[in-house]
Amino acid sequence: MTLELTSAGESHGPALVAIVMGLPAGLRVEHAAIAEDLRRRRQGYGRSPRQQLEEDEVQVLAGLRHRRTLGTPLALVIANRDHANWAWGMSAWPPEGEPSGKGTTSVTLPRPGHADLAGTLKFGHEDARNALERASARSTAIHVAAGAVAEGLLAELGMGVAGRVIEVGGETSEDAWIAATDAARAARDTLGGVVEVVATGVPPGLGSYAEKATRLDARIAGTLMGIQAVKGVELGDGFALARTRGSEAHDEIEPDRRRATNHAGGLEAGVTNGEPVVARAAMKPLPTLMRPLRSVDLVSGEPGEALVERSDVQAVDALAVVAEAAVAWELARAVREKFGGDALVDVRAAHSAYLERIGWHTR
Ligand SMILES: Cc1cc2nc3c(=O)[nH]c(=O)nc-3n(C[C@H](O)[C@H](O)[C@H](O)COP(=O)(O)O)c2cc1C
Repeated sequence: MTLELTSAGESHGPALVAIVMGLPAGLRVEHAAIAEDLRRRRQGYGRSPRQQLEEDEVQVLAGLRHRRTLGTPLALVIANRDHANWAWGMSAWPPEGEPSGKGTTSVTLPRPGHADLAGTLKFGHEDARNALERASARSTAIHVAAGAVAEGLLAELGMGVAGRVIEVGGETSEDAWIAATDAARAARDTLGGVVEVVATGVPPGLGSYAEKATRLDARIAGTLMGIQAVKGVELGDGFALARTRGSEAHDEIEPDRRRATNHAGGLEAGVTNGEPVVARAAMKPLPTLMRPLRSVDLVSGEPGEALVERSDVQAVDALAVVAEAAVAWELARAVREKFGGDALVDVRAAHSAYLERIGWHTR
């Protein structure tokens, strides 16, 4: 038993869709909780006007009745309001009438740092838009919606997951983030940053050291690295551990089997150890610059300037929400694997029985 998600949707297509398999029946899904996470994803200093345009209203087409999951596939849809401006350019069928709106001319000047060049070559596209539309971080909206559902499941078992920004453009205070973002915008440049996700109430024993692929540390690192623009991930003290001695690096075990420190970030041998799970992700500066980078025209072979498409100056606040959803999703998968159950009551019973067997009390 596990949770699986399959999604589809282009950035300027009609909608983002997801099918979620493996939720237990009877889980309460709050529309307001999903809406709140989607709102948080759109927020943040340095985002582009697209965020005001999109409402990100989630529709549930299947798997839910009167707010409770049915134990059947859950189908989620988020319409792209901006599609109205791209109806001709992004039409699924050969469009009728004169070209109108956006996306009517081919993108032949790939942007460095985006999927444009590699995707065009890999799939044999003549228009880089065929690659960049799906590679866009617009898809993170549907993952945030699914993450909100996962957080609901985790909350039933006393677990909470929270993401926050810890650095923007190398700065560590909010005033400095705003100033750095303003300066980057004025210079028609972009910034990156670092976010941190902490999961609390996590019991020991989620994940497994049996194989690389089952290690929860690997899975959390993988899901964070799977987010657009993430170039580095660390768990617990991560890279800093490499510069300390063993006597300072490990979390000694107290009589109650808890730890006074948490350098490991709640994971030992790919298994949760009962301490908060702590993961950080580093985001590169966004690759679409209003002062375009050098590129080459894929048709003429002439040097040129990369495509300039409406873009954020920085999206680190959004990454905090997207990363929170990703970690929640992976933890929820590990919960489904460990506790099984068709109905939420079964999951809760298995969870309680396990905590009783190991004599574990959440702090
Ligand atoms: C929430 C979020 C918003 C993003 N917004 C933009 C953006 O406005 N402009 C841009 O060039 N890249 C943006 N990105 C990053 C690109 O999507 C990403 O760098 C690109 O698809 C290439 O993938 P890679 O950086 O993982 O190699 C965003 C990423 C995230 C997570």
